[in-house]
Amino acid sequence: MVKVLNHPLITTKLTIMRNKETSHQLFRELLKEISTLMVFEILRDYKTIKCDVETPTGAIAQGQKMDQEIIIVPILRAGLGMVEGILSLIPNSRVGHIGVYRDEKNFQAHEYFYKVPTIDKNSLILLVDPMLATGTSAIDSIERLKKDGFKNINLVCLVGVQEGIDNVQKKHSDVKIFLAAQDLYLNEKKYIIPGLGDAGDRIFGTK
Ligand code: URA
Repeated sequence: MVKVLNHPLITTKLTIMRNKETSHQLFRELLKEISTLMVFEILRDYKTIKCDVETPTGAIAQGQKMDQEIIIVPILRAGLGMVEGILSLIPNSRVGHIGVYRDEKNFQAHEYFYKVPTIDKNSLILLVDPMLATGTSAIDSIERLKKDGFKNINLVCLVGVQEGIDNVQKKHSDVKIFLAAQDLYLNEKKYIIPGLGDAGDRIFGTK
């Protein structure tokens, strides 16, 4: 399943992020805001369970509480830019980290860091990375999470292309993919066009 979350608040913020003149400070703030908006939409179908609460009137209200742990897993380093925005809505979430890098010659992903909470493997994993380009980092990260026993994985990216979506779906058809926008194609350097440029550099101001 792929869902592009078309919402005016998301697309207008994303337009500012796309602008090459946008500062890293504003880029980071907007990434955080869009991540919050995306997760609001993504959790629309999230399962809750009934619970009773006593209100100050002494009456019992039938309410809902969350049924499942949520683990946010940023793919380092750009995924880090999405964590705070998601935590602002679901502050009791846990956070794991996956480090994979892209080999500049063959574009393959290699894992160099993995630390994910060792809790209920039915927890909902929100695997986050702003860019879904070739999909190699996402595929490697999903494989690693599945090897650890996790079964319920959502991939949340800001911008993706068909090639990356197809590659992830071919290997992991059970993973739901959420995007803020689907862009046109990958250039010869495997950058998304029109895209955002290098998301990590833009978040951290490294260029
Ligand atoms: N990673 C990025 O940061 N940008 C792209 O366009 C593709 C991958």
